[in-house]
Amino acid sequence: MVRVGVVGAGGIAAEHFKHIAANEQAEFVAVCDIVLQNAEAASARYGAAAYTDVTAMLDRERLDALFVCVPPFAHGDIEEQAARRGVHLLVEKPLGLDLEEVRRKAAVIREAGILAGSGYCLRYLESVQRAKRYLADKEIAMVRAFRFGGLPPTPWFADMAKSGGQLVEQTTHNLDLMLYLAGGVRRISADMALLLHKDVAGMTIPDVTSVNVVFDSGAIGHLDTAVIPQPDGRSSLEVLGRNFRLTIEGTSLTIAEPGTTTTWRGPGDFYRAQDDAFLQAVQTGDAGLILAPYEEALRTLEVTLAANASAASGIPVLLEREDAGVAAAPIPDAG
Ligand SMILES: NC(=O)c1ccc[n+]([C@@H]2O[C@H](COP(=O)([O-])OP(=O)(O)OC[C@H]3O[C@@H](n4cnc5c(N)ncnc54)[C@H](O)[C@@H]3O)[C@@H](O)[C@H]2O)c1
Repeated sequence: MVRVGVVGAGGIAAEHFKHIAANEQAEFVAVCDIVLQNAEAASARYGAAAYTDVTAMLDRERLDALFVCVPPFAHGDIEEQAARRGVHLLVEKPLGLDLEEVRRKAAVIREAGILAGSGYCLRYLESVQRAKRYLADKEIAMVRAFRFGGLPPTPWFADMAKSGGQLVEQTTHNLDLMLYLAGGVRRISADMALLLHKDVAGMTIPDVTSVNVVFDSGAIGHLDTAVIPQPDGRSSLEVLGRNFRLTIEGTSLTIAEPGTTTTWRGPGDFYRAQDDAFLQAVQTGDAGLILAPYEEALRTLEVTLAANASAASGIPVLLEREDAGVAAAPIPDAG
């Protein structure tokens, strides 16, 4: 049995609790939240021991795996503490807000040799996996995506210093899919503004965002996202190439080729698929089951933070590969 702990017992943790508890290979043994009643509520429902201090939980429980479900600003050294004890990690997106800090975490994780997945759960959709297989031998020319949705109820979301804004915190899922399907990005530019929620007290994140990217392959990409007052959340991703257009809208995948258009609909339980895959990876040691490794989530964070930097500076940002020895930097001449 995989002995599992969870840190952060809020909204997304409730989703993980269900799947950990239902997984026959796993035992949900401990839960930690700085708010005691949140940990106790999970404890009462699932029988896991309740903690308010993650170090105490890691010291007392012999965990095999830890789900990290704290908000973006609150990661502290949770990952390092788990990694140094050999505890495998599933870390919710975004991995943090400070790129250097997350890079240091990634190095500790690498050194510890543990398995580390991230919460980019949409990769586990069958529609996405089918799209990935279809695109494997295709030359992509363009990717366009959007996501519009209401203001999440979590109080920290509207605070730029705590969430990083909608692109870093939420629409990171959509950008992650663009990277997953079309590869790395070498240039990014973004415009962001707070226009629709100017009257919301304490709101410091932009609520309208437009992003342009150039992929390493030379393909061009575009992503729009907005926090909208209307309750009509929508998102879509489209990939264009010579003789094909592929569209993913949630569980549905449409592929249009000259003369034929095929739509396929798959199951939607991506959270369960993600958690089951991670737990099986821990049990078997098969890292290949994890479709969104921590290292790839780090790349997604780099790109979303670069978009924020571009929006702040008004100029595009070049993303150099780490192995090229150059960090992300604004392009002096926007050209
Ligand atoms: N993968 C997804 O689809 C998905 C969906 C929702 C949220 N998330 C991500 O999950 C994370 C949490 O989001 P949420 O909506 O559950 O937030 P939330 O505010 O509902 O829950 C966070 C919980 O963490 C606790 N907490 C904060 N700091 C802590 C610490 N240092 N130690 C222990 N507990 C701590 C809080 O008390 C709270 O109970 C965010 O990064 C968010 O982006 C992912």
